[in-house]
Amino acid sequence: MTSPDSRITIRPMAGSLGADIDLAGPVDDGIFAAIRQALDHYLVIHLHGLDLAPEELVALTRRFGTISRAPYIKHMDTHPDIVAVKKAADERKVSTFGNAWHSDFSFLDQPPMASLLYARQVPSHGGDTLFANMVEAYDALSDGLKAVLDGLDAMHAGRPYGTGGVPGTIAVSRSIGIERNRPEADREVAHPVVRVHPGTGRKALFVNPIYTIRFAGMTVEESRPLLDFLYAHAVRPEFTCRLRWTAGDLAIWDNRCTLHYAVNDYDGQDRLLYRTMVQGERPVPAIPRRH
Ligand code: SIN
Repeated sequence: MTSPDSRITIRPMAGSLGADIDLAGPVDDGIFAAIRQALDHYLVIHLHGLDLAPEELVALTRRFGTISRAPYIKHMDTHPDIVAVKKAADERKVSTFGNAWHSDFSFLDQPPMASLLYARQVPSHGGDTLFANMVEAYDALSDGLKAVLDGLDAMHAGRPYGTGGVPGTIAVSRSIGIERNRPEADREVAHPVVRVHPGTGRKALFVNPIYTIRFAGMTVEESRPLLDFLYAHAVRPEFTCRLRWTAGDLAIWDNRCTLHYAVNDYDGQDRLLYRTMVQGERPVPAIPRRH
């Protein structure tokens, strides 16, 4: 894609998705339109060298749409639209927020369309975020499997926050306030396995190993082999990119057609990012459902 505005420079991060963007100047309407266009094209964008106060991050998020707050996660007392994603240097051998492939809060009736993550403090090395392109993952499937998946729904639930909990052996970072054992998080919500992006019209796989429980109308055991195949297929290296953080960077990704994974390889170093989300629509199926 050639840059739609001469004040922004766009460099693709990988063959499949992601773009590094340098801005020359403030985010006025022209630059914002170019950023939106780049997001639709690259699915993940990495803006370099910003100096955003928390209220500026919130204001930028609002330009994409209505802000949505993350369920079961503590937000900042001073800025209730922001989650501080933190792991402190003295927290070793603990799990971190987002340390498995997922699309943000896919168990909501209207999952967030986009998330913004702004780096305040990052390790000297490690702590990268990986992304996978669920449009290309879908496109690479056989026509036969596509036809099956187009007509299927999957059940999603807020499993890490529910009564089943996370495996007892995994201690979780104390620096991010996560509510556990909430019965309402066990509620299953049906979403199409293949959703259509309202902006681009492209089809994307919409399942992930954290929140997808099973296919609708099937048991967990019946669903597992095909879901496991899709999870492994979707994150093949060819469909991914790797975002390396510098303080002052802002990542924006489209949750409707990507998965992401926070790499937890920086024990002994502090990492702090501010995170906001934009409200999405109810996922649109590839084939209309007769409910
Ligand atoms: C997330 O899943 O939103 C966290 C990503 C990160 O910390 O890199």
